[in-house]
Amino acid sequence: MSRTKSSPLSQATLTLALAAILATTAARLAPSQPAAPQAAPTFTAEQVERGRAIYGRNCTDCHGTTLDNGEFGGPVLKGGFFRQKWSAGGVGALFSYTKGLMPPDRPGGLTDQNYADLTAYILSHNGYQPGDKEMPTDPAAMQNMGIKP
Ligand code: HEC
Repeated sequence: MSRTKSSPLSQATLTLALAAILATTAARLAPSQPAAPQAAPTFTAEQVERGRAIYGRNCTDCHGTTLDNGEFGGPVLKGGFFRQKWSAGGVGALFSYTKGLMPPDRPGGLTDQNYADLTAYILSHNGYQPGDKEMPTDPAAMQNMGIKP
């Protein structure tokens, strides 16, 4: 017969051991965390306009016409809390998330160009100005672009 109940002592020991492992793992991971990306995002005014149209067709129901007034439960896509959330991963992470999960009924269902335009549109609502350089469609090319909290 195997024991079905471990003694309280061994459970406490296990908990302590686990806590110690977690603590050392966290300590080891911390210094190797990549620094948040810093370069300013680039995108053009045309991309923002294209993004606005794509957004209107695919995202407005849930995220709202002003990116913070969605009717069907989508979180806000602008403001300090939003930027704070994406500051660690930057533009590359935001693009990958959007392409990977949005819109929820057909994630990845738009083209990479569409997702880059949507990213430009979202950034234009978060204090970033368009310039003469396009937002690239390649996540690797975006990964240096930061989002300031
Ligand atoms: C059916 C409703 C729905 C539609 C349509 C939709 N979203 Fe979302 N979106 C959500 C929900 C719900 C979440 C939160 C998911 C979670 O937290 O797990 C979300 C999260 C997000 C986030 C991350 C928000 C954050 O807090 O960081 C982004 C960016 C985003 N959506 C962009 C888009 C874009 C761009 C489109 C259009 C292509 C779109 N979504 C369409 C419901 C929707």
